Amino acid sequence: MQMNHFPIYAGSLQPQTSVLFDAFVLVGGKHLPCFRKAETVDLERLKKLHASNTTKLFIPVQEEPAYFEYLRHRLESLKAAKSPLQFLLGTLSTLTENLPRTLEEESSFRATSSLVSLASEYLRSHPNALKAEISELKGSNDIIEHSAKVAILSLALAPRLGLQDDQELCDMGVAALLHDLGKLSMNLPFGVSLDDLPRSITQAYLSHPSLSVELISEKRYINVRIRRLIGDHEEMGQGEGFPAKKNVSELSLSSQVLNLCNDFERYATINNTSLLKAFKPYTKDKRGVFDSLHLLRLGEMLSGK
Ligand SMILES: [Fe+2]
Ligand SMILES: [Fe+2]
Repeated sequence: MQMNHFPIYAGSLQPQTSVLFDAFVLVGGKHLPCFRKAETVDLERLKKLHASNTTKLFIPVQEEPAYFEYLRHRLESLKAAKSPLQFLLGTLSTLTENLPRTLEEESSFRATSSLVSLASEYLRSHPNALKAEISELKGSNDIIEHSAKVAILSLALAPRLGLQDDQELCDMGVAALLHDLGKLSMNLPFGVSLDDLPRSITQAYLSHPSLSVELISEKRYINVRIRRLIGDHEEMGQGEGFPAKKNVSELSLSSQVLNLCNDFERYATINNTSLLKAFKPYTKDKRGVFDSLHLLRLGEMLSGK
């Protein structure tokens, strides 16, 4: 039965909205109904799920189009939402977790990209949307959450640095969701700095950006820019990153933003702190590694300016 369902993050459901699909909770290996088609999502039930640490629900695979349609509607009407961050996190985490499956079909990949594009459009046209919540944002518990947070930070920061091109923003958001696919496939430790890794896995770690690109090499519908963004995502400073030891300032703006957000989010995770608290020590530790204006705008964004 489990094979016929795909996981979604409960955060991707918004209270007081009507669901277009059945959603189940997994209890003792069985899927038990949680929300029924056409039912209104009850805030109390969402709170109960949260209190019981139930972060994921399950939807029958054949209802994926209905779930994607629900997300599309929610993203399009997000303007009115008081706290969009949890919804965006839930949505982008769901898209990341399902990538191994959705990458298999061009139509599913395009549906994923168009949802990323809507999230990007929202963050671009509402520069202060995350103001109330972003200072509370902490480092991540796993690589899925990390990828979703890197996407949100990048999509919110890039327009503040002048990047307004819809396609480039969307490609950067998709690359953020995909960037650590290689790390995930090798089951490498998450949230650890390169210096603290056991020597036996250093080589594997250094190869993860290239492996991420290799894993999508057959997918003709993933464009060159997304591949390049993924392959370069660990490049920083003047050749201080890997694998090609590129000078980060020579990369495209979207690539620089992605790399900064990836490195910064990981720093907050390693130091087990909120992104806001991580910012000052990060800028001290990484002086000269990323563009100072990019860091300045990131700091402003985190302090709700
Ligand atoms: Fe990485
Ligand atoms: Fe990463």
